Amino acid sequence: MIVVDTVQALRSARGNLAEPLGLVPTMGFLHAGHMALVDAARAQNATVAVSIFVNPKQFGPNEDFATYPRDLDRDLAMLRQAGVDLVFVPSVEEMYPADFSTTVDVGPIGEVLEGARRPGHFRGVATVVARLFGLFQPQRAYFGQKDAQQCVVVKRLVADLGLPLEIVVVPTVREPDGLAMSSRNVYLNPKERVAARVLSASLRLAEQHFRDGERDAETLRRLVRETVSREPLVRLDYVSVADASTLAELEVVDRPALVSMAAWVGRARLIDNILL
Ligand code: PAF
Repeated sequence: MIVVDTVQALRSARGNLAEPLGLVPTMGFLHAGHMALVDAARAQNATVAVSIFVNPKQFGPNEDFATYPRDLDRDLAMLRQAGVDLVFVPSVEEMYPADFSTTVDVGPIGEVLEGARRPGHFRGVATVVARLFGLFQPQRAYFGQKDAQQCVVVKRLVADLGLPLEIVVVPTVREPDGLAMSSRNVYLNPKERVAARVLSASLRLAEQHFRDGERDAETLRRLVRETVSREPLVRLDYVSVADASTLAELEVVDRPALVSMAAWVGRARLIDNILL
């Protein structure tokens, strides 16, 4: 496994790798969800590359950039074990040299849901992802369904700019009790960890009601709200039932829909979603 930390070293390593190349962009502190992305990339490409970069541009001033969990040695061991070919671990200065000045903004789909609560977040994501696509020139790139809006944003970016790669979305990997895997789950103490089950449980309940024929979006939102409110350690930030491609809120679930939510559990802000 080749590990590089400069753009120059990345470019020369990239040149010697077999095509097609699948890229898995990450912020490190890897878990089974990331490894599912790596496995999908391994299955579909001759070469697998991973980037590990905690991107300051996608964190708000009061968010957890400084404390975001990091463990590079463990990450590299996991990637080596999984047969990854190339890993890029740039510094902030390498990713954003002093004269860096471009921002990629995907417009309204980046300003609802997570974007409304985290102003500038998706500009930061779109900007770093566009730069990574430029540096790696991958034929495919892999993103987890857990970050549903990020998937919509990245697909929009690729379509609008005509970038020559395919975006592959991999299903959310969950703990046995349903909690979606996230690097931020380490923030949970044991009581909060148990309470955090209510996120996926409330989504499963909404899914069950949808299967039983419920089509009123507000009824599904209310179900999630009421379920979460019964768990005192969890504070719901929002629940949304939206068109899965435009992210516009729905009144009636008459097309593919994304049920998404964010909630505070202790100091962790967790997100989860399901597709109907
Ligand atoms: O999903 C993430 O970890 C990040 O948002 C990404 C895609 C690596 C961009 O920094």
